Amino acid sequence: MTYYERPGPGAGGLPARAAFASDAPSLSLNGTWRFHLAPSVADAPEGFEDPGFDDSGWAALPVPSTWQSHGHGKPAYTNFRYPFPVEAPHVPDENPTGDHRLSFDVPGSWRGKPVVLRFDGIDSCGRVWLNGTELGYTQGSRVPVEFDVSAVLRPGQRNVLAVRVHQWSAGSYLEDQDQWWLSGIFRDVRLVVRPEHGIPDFFVHAGYDHRTGHGSLRIDTTAGARVSVPELGLADAAVNETHDVGPIEGWTAETPRLYHGTLSATGEQVPLRIGFRTVEISDGVLTVNGRRIRFRGVNRHEFHPTLGRVVPPEVVRAELAEMKRHNINAIRTSHYPPDPLVLDLCDELGLWVMDECDLETHGYEVDDWPENPSDDPRWRDAYLDRMRRMVERDKNHPSIVLWSLGNESGIGRNHGAMADWTRLRDPSRPLHYERDREGRYVDVYSRMYPPPDEVARIGATKKMPFILCEYAHAMGNGPGRLVEYERLFDTYPRCQGGFVWEWLDHGIRQRTPDGTEFYAYGGDFGEEVHDGNFVIDGLVFPDRSPSPGLIEYAKVIEPVRIESVAGGIRVTNRRDFAALDDLSFDWVLEEEGREVARGALAVPRVAAGESVDVAVPKVPTTLAETWLTVNARLSDATEWAPAGHVVAWGQLPVRQPEPPVAPEPGQEAVRRGGELTVGRAAFDPVRGSLLRIGDVPVAGLRLDVWRAPTDNDRGSEEPLADRWRAAGLDRLQHRVLGLEASGGGLTVRTRSAAAGQREGLVATWRWTEDGAAVRLRLAIEPEGDWTVPLPRLGLRLALPALLDTVEWYGSGPGESYVDSCAAVRIGRFTRTVDQLQTPYVFPQENGNRRDVRWAELRDADGAGLRVKGAPTFELTARRWTSEALAAARHTYELVPDDVIHVNLDAGHTGLGSASCGPGVAERHRLIVAPTIFELTFRELG
Ligand code: GAL
Repeated sequence: MTYYERPGPGAGGLPARAAFASDAPSLSLNGTWRFHLAPSVADAPEGFEDPGFDDSGWAALPVPSTWQSHGHGKPAYTNFRYPFPVEAPHVPDENPTGDHRLSFDVPGSWRGKPVVLRFDGIDSCGRVWLNGTELGYTQGSRVPVEFDVSAVLRPGQRNVLAVRVHQWSAGSYLEDQDQWWLSGIFRDVRLVVRPEHGIPDFFVHAGYDHRTGHGSLRIDTTAGARVSVPELGLADAAVNETHDVGPIEGWTAETPRLYHGTLSATGEQVPLRIGFRTVEISDGVLTVNGRRIRFRGVNRHEFHPTLGRVVPPEVVRAELAEMKRHNINAIRTSHYPPDPLVLDLCDELGLWVMDECDLETHGYEVDDWPENPSDDPRWRDAYLDRMRRMVERDKNHPSIVLWSLGNESGIGRNHGAMADWTRLRDPSRPLHYERDREGRYVDVYSRMYPPPDEVARIGATKKMPFILCEYAHAMGNGPGRLVEYERLFDTYPRCQGGFVWEWLDHGIRQRTPDGTEFYAYGGDFGEEVHDGNFVIDGLVFPDRSPSPGLIEYAKVIEPVRIESVAGGIRVTNRRDFAALDDLSFDWVLEEEGREVARGALAVPRVAAGESVDVAVPKVPTTLAETWLTVNARLSDATEWAPAGHVVAWGQLPVRQPEPPVAPEPGQEAVRRGGELTVGRAAFDPVRGSLLRIGDVPVAGLRLDVWRAPTDNDRGSEEPLADRWRAAGLDRLQHRVLGLEASGGGLTVRTRSAAAGQREGLVATWRWTEDGAAVRLRLAIEPEGDWTVPLPRLGLRLALPALLDTVEWYGSGPGESYVDSCAAVRIGRFTRTVDQLQTPYVFPQENGNRRDVRWAELRDADGAGLRVKGAPTFELTARRWTSEALAAARHTYELVPDDVIHVNLDAGHTGLGSASCGPGVAERHRLIVAPTIFELTFRELG
């Protein structure tokens, strides 16, 4: 057996310790290295570790990097199937092998000093030589390793570091996370002097006693070291004993108060950032500093669209700030410990962290877990080693409130070993592992993707803290139903929230031959086995811009609720700790979407968990539909948002719209030229189809029920999309049953049904004149035995391509669907047709605007068509048909037509999250039923 096929752990590494910076000298070895990729171990060059080896012909490669992101080899995506034969611990002979070399100088002043070489991450394993001497071998891709190089380093001279990395190793069996398989030295590499009489390691225990408000501090480290925290009046205090530091401000995700201090030994000084908090489970509720906490979290993978597993520091900071701006308060580091920087930032910005071990053996689930390493003693040390390296590295972060043993690895004794060791080492943090349903080893009950009714059942009965380590699968358009979960978290004290799956779409940025940018997913790199676009399931797009799912989530989890109650406005503080003192409230009054007044709203102090009612401000009288929008904004800038940033908002109705008035019976349709006309509308006299409204040509107006299936429509065991296609809803045929130009206007009857199907929709189209407009009253009657809900129900039509500006009064500004519409408000919005599209990486239904009272599609001169609902309709406008949208697999396959396709709908089925989880709630399925739908059309300009 080769060294890299041993179940692990590695060999030659130093004992794990905390990640920290100190005043000891260090040298980053990040930079441009020499690199050679061989298709197999047998093809890898011999003697490359020799300092004299000639690497002048090798490629240059940045380190840190994943080599597939730089044109060496190809990325591959699988969800849980192993991309190699399952015969652990063996891996294929065709094992891509990346040899890395770096020549570097070390200052002469380092002579005689102990030095360690630290790798923060090598995927999947690394064998390391310095100046020709082998230092050891490491496995465990996302946990650090250090080697003692004191005896081989040549200060003042040239040194040569050589690292052989194999794409596959025994460790790969433990790293079967749902993500791209990418290889290389993907985190920092550094030499660190370890001073004599220094601080090799330390463990900060900083507690908060919620009864007294006092903090306690104990730092376990080398005897004789001293601690100073000037802010607390702690000067030169002893280590390895507990100090009562008096009244302090506790650390929470809402109040990330860090106290700065110093840990000193004669040979080394370490800056400290201490957050005081105590995590406890009390009466089955997870608490911090004595209060129940609620996770409003996301699962975060480390990925970048061009750099693979390397996420530059500025991108990390920006994305965590983006989370904070969207009211997210927690991260599960799915499914491995992140780059250490992430945790520093979580301490600083305020995010609860569940730190998860680099462990997943999900490929064994395929045939129900036979020979799962989790229960095989040969793998015990590897499991323990991974846990130990995570806990030791990360133990000093106040943000970490739970340790997670890993993800989807079945369950076995090796989990028990991890848990036992962790409890001894760090009794201060509870343990999590979702597959431990009986609570054999862990302290919290965790589930992924249970439907809301099951969450309610568990919430009502379970005696442990209950969290959803994954829920609301954010693949494509969705997730729907966030509001339902949120209600349950508000209802059951032990339902303590969860982590949406997942933060980011892992698309890889590519270009077509003609230079069009797009994002690639599984299968785009010729993988033999892959899981397609299942890797595109984030709340943010691959470039980390927010998708509508994130906007919805931010609104649903907002820390302040602003609602209308009898006689006033109720402001509820949904935070767990902080009052709302950092927020200012203001209001805007809009009449039919136009601002008529604004002002400040005085809100008295509201403690966490409490509500106050305030009077509605005095506002001017209005005539049309009027709404009052109240915003809660940050009064001052924070590290993650500018002053004025809207944290929460609510909209209150002030004046309802006038009910629509039925028009006077108008003129009968008249025959003019070869056409029938009703007021300004012209129809085909045989088919009865609309041809024009005034001068605006209208093509292809007909009943339509199809939408380009979303990932959620395509998900679950019996995908809605399959049922829709089986029922022929994507290919309705239309037949005119009759045409009648009498009784004031024009009446057309049609029947729409699919080939081979008996079920049909009979529609009576009644067109009448309504002043300068023409009114359509559509009565739809189902025929036959309909058993599928409809994707949508409404009309389609095509308008000239120049009418590409859309203004509407209704829900906006973003898209919305019946089970994902918390984040939209009633207002007047203008977008171009292109801006109305949501660029889901895998094209699908998107861009729907609901509750539309009226919409105008106009050209640059303001000419065009106005459509008014009675009272409302749903709207999409695109440069391609639903059929083209459904056929496209990548964004670049969407080619604009020379018309704009408009859908005007009475309703849509909701979104749900069946791509992995519950489908659309019954009440949000569009059941076939008699329907009346009314619209008026008027030419503009
Ligand atoms: C879970 C898993 C995640 C991801 C998700 C689906 O089962 O833990 O890693 O695969 O499903 O996207």
